Amino acid sequence: MRIGVIGAGSIGAVVAAKLREGAVPRAELAGISHKDPNPPDGLHAMPFDEMLDTADLVVECAGQQALATLGPRILDAGCDLLIVSVGALADQQLFERLLGAGPGAVHLSTGAIGGLDLLAAAAAMGPLHHVEIVTTKRAGSLIQPWMDDDQARRLRHAAAPVEVMRGPARTVTEAFPASANVAASVALAVRDWDVVEAAVVADPAAERTSHVITAEGAAGHYRFDITNQPSFRTPTSSRVVPYAVLSAIDGLVNPKGVFR
Ligand SMILES: NC(=O)c1ccc[n+]([C@@H]2O[C@H](COP(=O)([O-])OP(=O)(O)OC[C@H]3O[C@@H](n4cnc5c(N)ncnc54)[C@H](O)[C@@H]3O)[C@@H](O)[C@H]2O)c1
Repeated sequence: MRIGVIGAGSIGAVVAAKLREGAVPRAELAGISHKDPNPPDGLHAMPFDEMLDTADLVVECAGQQALATLGPRILDAGCDLLIVSVGALADQQLFERLLGAGPGAVHLSTGAIGGLDLLAAAAAMGPLHHVEIVTTKRAGSLIQPWMDDDQARRLRHAAAPVEVMRGPARTVTEAFPASANVAASVALAVRDWDVVEAAVVADPAAERTSHVITAEGAAGHYRFDITNQPSFRTPTSSRVVPYAVLSAIDGLVNPKGVFR
């Protein structure tokens, strides 16, 4: 399978480099499409349109805007699409547009978290009464363009952890597009945006990013406590994410004997 990668940042550059090294059997890097001023080191950069002609699967590692503009074109061109910026799917119109496009198929990367399979099973068995995800990150990486100066200053100079936002998963995902992809992932796994409450906590002392997911329902009680090393290059992302992408590609290319 020939894989095209969009975005040469903290996730895309690692995915492309590992594919080029042969990290996934029977998967070959077709090329990388990026918007950076310099071509990524040693990786074959190619225009997006050329990628559509050569790739079987395109991996989006470029952000919500890129997914919204390029996603439907990828699917309409007959390429499958693996989405990393799952937070973009909080936009119901975009979600429906992508699912309605084709003949390519849409796949979602589990990204920075796990447990989504069990949450999906529990939701399928019966109602989940409460699902919560609390994300804690370095305070500085949570400052958003919509925050006023006071709010931004409070985060920059916080001496103790501060809960910056708590609310429905869709609202929190939209407010923290680079940091709350995980809230979208949980909502998409349980197929119910309304049952999922998300909170974002800024911790001035946080060396790592943590996500605590809890769920309660007829199937049982679930708690996943995840702590990730942040990426050096893009601290809002975690270092494990490219490897989640590679694992997803492996599952698609080599589908025998993998968990479903
Ligand atoms: N699902 C998850 O759990 C999860 C976890 C971490 C990050 N993410 C998301 O993954 C995405 C990538 O994260 P990152 O850390 O690699 O970001 P990054 O900022 O390091 O890199 C993004 C790259 O995309 C490129 N780009 C932007 N628009 C483009 C376009 N139209 N065509 C080609 N390239 C384009 C940029 O030039 C940059 O190289 C972000 O949207 C982030 O929110 C998801």
